Amino acid sequence: MALRWKNTLKDHHVTDEKLFLNRRQIMGGAVAGLGLGTIGGDLQAAPEGLEPNPYEDITQYNNYYEFGTGKDDPSRYANALTTEPWSVTIGGMVDRPGDYGFEDIMKAMTIEDRLYRFRCVEAWSMVIPWNGFELADLLDMAGVQSSAKYVAFETAYRPDEMPGVKYPVLEWPYVEGLRLDEAVHPLTIMATGIYGKDIPKQNGAPLRLVVPWKYGFKSIKSVVRITLTDTQPPTSWNKANAGEYGFYANVNPQVDHPRWSQASERPVGGGLFSRRQPTLMLNGYEEDVADLYAGMDLVRNF
Ligand code: MTE
Repeated sequence: MALRWKNTLKDHHVTDEKLFLNRRQIMGGAVAGLGLGTIGGDLQAAPEGLEPNPYEDITQYNNYYEFGTGKDDPSRYANALTTEPWSVTIGGMVDRPGDYGFEDIMKAMTIEDRLYRFRCVEAWSMVIPWNGFELADLLDMAGVQSSAKYVAFETAYRPDEMPGVKYPVLEWPYVEGLRLDEAVHPLTIMATGIYGKDIPKQNGAPLRLVVPWKYGFKSIKSVVRITLTDTQPPTSWNKANAGEYGFYANVNPQVDHPRWSQASERPVGGGLFSRRQPTLMLNGYEEDVADLYAGMDLVRNF
């Protein structure tokens, strides 16, 4: 089954890593910390003018509750996670179920650079230069059957390595899900790197989902299981509080969280001159993904 939903990927999402690495060198240290925008015309390479956050913001301000609920807990404790060897068990409605070794996956995939906005449901945001491959390509490896309608994901559960799973903040393991058409959309990737380096453990090594038009909690880390199914899979935050976190979790400035507004967001690392910025419909990817939700009530399906 050919999974490509529609080849709508716009060039502006694809980044040239070298430009960003150059930019980082030039923007290093205190200047980057202040989030000062452009210095000189040749730094305008970011598509749509997006400025990637410095590596330090992306890797030291995290949510990965298996390692604690503090923003700096993952960067302090995730080092304990064993990521080699790693395999992803792909099963359910697929022609070739089995354990797919991470190295074998990497050999078969094309790694691309994608500069994406990242918007957490808590109303902070970043811009992240990911490296990764399209989830559709991984699903093609396993051969999705025509009966499949959803994709379920599961994070590793390692009580010996994950100090946070002692606490019943969420039901473990962390689980997430997408509709199949969302999963095979060309913007949906499995990230394996950031700024051209292997993805750090606190960001979900060795591979994590990234769905840039949805709130960050959909982007499940350190994936060990992917299951194709015909029923909507349970998701961790929805199980914890169904009134506050829906299955879809599309970024939408018009649909507030019951306890706070989603109309604006705080860019992380903005420093002294940081100010809130308006949140964009579908996190700025409306042109690419609005068709997926044609005719749907986005207030009810939050
Ligand atoms: N995946 C797992 N397994 N555990 C988590 O706690 N947190 C989610 C998501 N994926 C989380 C997870 C949330 S709430 C967010 S905002 C993003 O990861 C944060 O990703 P980052 O730390 O790489 O920015």
